[in-house]
Amino acid sequence: MALVNMQSLLHKAEEGGYAVGSFSVANMECIRGVIRAAEALHAPAILQIAEIRLPYSPLYLIGPMMLAAAKHAQVPVAVHLDHGKTLACVQEALDLGFTSVMCDGSDQPIDANVAFAKQTVALAKEKGATVEAEVGRVGRGEDGSESEAQIASMDDCFRMDETGIDALAVGIGNAHGLYAATPQLHYEVLEELHGKLRSSLVMHGGTGLTDEQFQKVISLGMRKINIATDLFMSQAGACQGKDIFKNIASSVDAVSATVQRYIKLFGSEGKA
Ligand code: 13P
Repeated sequence: MALVNMQSLLHKAEEGGYAVGSFSVANMECIRGVIRAAEALHAPAILQIAEIRLPYSPLYLIGPMMLAAAKHAQVPVAVHLDHGKTLACVQEALDLGFTSVMCDGSDQPIDANVAFAKQTVALAKEKGATVEAEVGRVGRGEDGSESEAQIASMDDCFRMDETGIDALAVGIGNAHGLYAATPQLHYEVLEELHGKLRSSLVMHGGTGLTDEQFQKVISLGMRKINIATDLFMSQAGACQGKDIFKNIASSVDAVSATVQRYIKLFGSEGKA
């Protein structure tokens, strides 16, 4: 069990027709809540942190904690850099021992996005790590900053797939953070891609999608689903009084309960 390559989890998910939850963490309580949930349900899991969150949780501190948690887990856990925006950050994560990195050049023209992916693949393959890239655009930054969701074009999906990446986040009308209303997801993109890519498909912006939407995107090939906002809200809601130790314990419990709900929804329960 313990720390594993992300690609191995996604390939198993492809065979089994389910998705692996990729959970964004910001501190120890969140990390422990994710691991507790995965162990309780005997499920694989991915721990991730986005580059934009590092001013709050520096990588040199939280990275080793994520890796230690994965290594001690009773279930397979991959440790992933979410939305790496710079090669320096990607390199730092790889040097720490992250088993997966995302290079997100989706705010750049496709040529630059592809070039960033190729550079990342070269670095990651030296370490046996998995690479995720993004085409189209997931709306809003991972930190809630505004940017429009853009639907991925087939050409961009195929071009990115050829760079040697392992996982591809495709914009299908999804966005990070809270949706003002249930989004219209462009399932036709997934239908058109079905069976044509070597990369595994990744769904960002999980918070706020309906159970039916999760089931539909999984049936159309999504193998990694990212959840961030719901975990952060669960943790914040669990911190009630001024007793720090009670808040730590209730945070772990709250994150674990939230993660368990997603694991069941994604069909990864019992798949460790
Ligand atoms: P949410 O914050 O909408 O759950 O999105 C998570 C995500 O996609 C992280 O990359």
